[in-house]
Amino acid sequence: MDQSLFPVPEAWAKRAYVDDAKYQEMYKHSVDDPDGFWGEHGKRVDWIKPYTKVKNTSYDPHNVSIKWFEDGTLNVTASCIDRHLETRGDQVAILWEGDDPADDAKITYRELYDNVCRFANVLKKLGAKKGDRITIYMPMIPEAAYAMLACARIGAVHSVVFGGFSPDSLAGRIQDCDSNIVITADEGLRGGRKIPLKANTDTALEKCPSVTGVVVVRRTGGVIGWKDGRDVWLHEEMEDVAGDCPAEEMNAEDPLFILYTSGSTGQPKGVLHTTGGYLVFAAMTHQYVFDYHDGDIYWCTADVGWVTGHSYIVYGPLANGATTLMFEGVPNYPTAARFWEVCDKHQVNILYTAPTAIRALMGAGEELVKKTSRASLRLLGSVGEPINPEAWLWYYNVVGDGRCPIVDTWWQTETGGILISPLPGATGLKPGSATRPFFGVQPGLVDGDGTLLEGAAEGNLVMLDSWPGQMRTVYGDHERFVQTYFSAYKGLYFSGDGCRRDEDGFYWITGRVDDVINVSGHRMGTAEVESSLVAHPKVSEAAVVGYPHDIKGQGIYAYVTLMAGEVPNEDLRKELVQWVRKDIGPIASPDLIQFSPGLPKTRSGKIMRRILRKIAEDEFSNLGDTSTLADPAVVDDLIDNRQNRA
Ligand code: PRX
Repeated sequence: MDQSLFPVPEAWAKRAYVDDAKYQEMYKHSVDDPDGFWGEHGKRVDWIKPYTKVKNTSYDPHNVSIKWFEDGTLNVTASCIDRHLETRGDQVAILWEGDDPADDAKITYRELYDNVCRFANVLKKLGAKKGDRITIYMPMIPEAAYAMLACARIGAVHSVVFGGFSPDSLAGRIQDCDSNIVITADEGLRGGRKIPLKANTDTALEKCPSVTGVVVVRRTGGVIGWKDGRDVWLHEEMEDVAGDCPAEEMNAEDPLFILYTSGSTGQPKGVLHTTGGYLVFAAMTHQYVFDYHDGDIYWCTADVGWVTGHSYIVYGPLANGATTLMFEGVPNYPTAARFWEVCDKHQVNILYTAPTAIRALMGAGEELVKKTSRASLRLLGSVGEPINPEAWLWYYNVVGDGRCPIVDTWWQTETGGILISPLPGATGLKPGSATRPFFGVQPGLVDGDGTLLEGAAEGNLVMLDSWPGQMRTVYGDHERFVQTYFSAYKGLYFSGDGCRRDEDGFYWITGRVDDVINVSGHRMGTAEVESSLVAHPKVSEAAVVGYPHDIKGQGIYAYVTLMAGEVPNEDLRKELVQWVRKDIGPIASPDLIQFSPGLPKTRSGKIMRRILRKIAEDEFSNLGDTSTLADPAVVDDLIDNRQNRA
């Protein structure tokens, strides 16, 4: 691994909010005196009733409880919109770039205020009130941000479901949080292709009788089904309502949103974030990690269906009065030069994207990058999965012309915001390392027994104490929250990631250590894909693991045992891929399927995934001890018929 250090450029140390000395000082304050530190920084957002208490958290597995600023009240939209009206009402808040390069829009803070208030009044007219859960299933258009903020305005809890999920996945998420309203669009548009969002919603709602209202945004004008009395057009309703809507007073610990994410077992869980601590943490990390200054054009390429879109397209940037670019399309449409053309067109200063996109664009060749200027770029960011040094160096040298620091930001849906990342004016860079903890964040590494390791070491990544953006519970299942994150190591938050700390105290994330795989930066539980496969009438058993994939980081490798009498063939292979795609969504499609008459099991019937992983990785020369298997011969068959031959 490349250990070389890219020192902080002198100009950066001068212009940034923090240099190394300031980082050390602030970090020390943040962990020595969290109440003092966050008591001061909590003031960066607007409070209706200021807090007098700051931190009240416990990681004791018998009583996990996380509260920040618990007696303060606020509404996040006041910080994200209202307070900017006087100083920057005419500044662009959302800079929208459509799927088609000819389509774009600029929404000022004043226009954002008007749209969000009207949208909030439309929701009220449909009967929505504080505490209701509202599901948002939208393309990347400004209305997606309006919808989230409109929910927040009236104190409703939003649950955004990524537009690439299937009707069944959408239905499961609507049912889990018992939403009464769904916000969607007629169709989405990505890479020139239409996505039938309203049709998917209609199918999902056949299983969701609790939904009484559907707000539909007109995006493409395509033909859609309609249910009178349930469905309303947003543009029609918006004309009929007032352009003002009072912001509901929320307690700091009232829920702001639910976001479903995959774990190692069972169905996706509803990660619940609350109001005060989340906003403080999203805004503060956005300002310091990206060194955001007034007037900067900032672009995060994520989708609002993921946490990155929540914290770093919508809440963090808007709380900081930023201009946030929102992109409807994909990196390779119309050509693989799109990202760089958008950077030039909108004079983007800060670009935040994912390693999978970088690797794909790297594959398209340097010429497409070099024909654009990119002179406006100042800082680059990476998120979602470990970035391999080769992709890091390409991003740095080719995209950034060796000029722009890269902030490799490690965090999770559960953490609400960035926990480990360089600060561009303070931290030297090592390709592939997320470097050092953000203020108030105390990472640790534990061995298998839960012993905390000192100095340079490798182990499982835990957090010793809470930070304001931490999730508070799993919606409707606090026990699952405790079990998933606080039971493996007593008194510690367990991230599910493996990690190495080097002699400089820099952190290197090595990837998940549980049964979660990371496909193109999207989290997928192997159990979810398995349960989809076994639901197929011809499948008797399935085991899913990840394997290294050049572009996606990890690909999905499925071992499938068919029902007695079924004969494996190519058509069935394709059918099973389509089956999972339709059941969960395209991101869950298996890349490789191996038909295996038997799976390696212990005598007690437990599938030995370690062996399946090694074979999928095409690294089976050292499979370890296979003598405990009920039938060691299955291993030879698995190796002979492996799909991932080097
Ligand atoms: O394995 C880590 C990986 O993504 C997981 C979290 O996924 P999700 O909740 O979907 O959130 C993704 C966006 C924040 C982590 O457990 N991950 C995320 N960022 C990095 C990373 N792995 C290595 N380096 C990163 N910078």
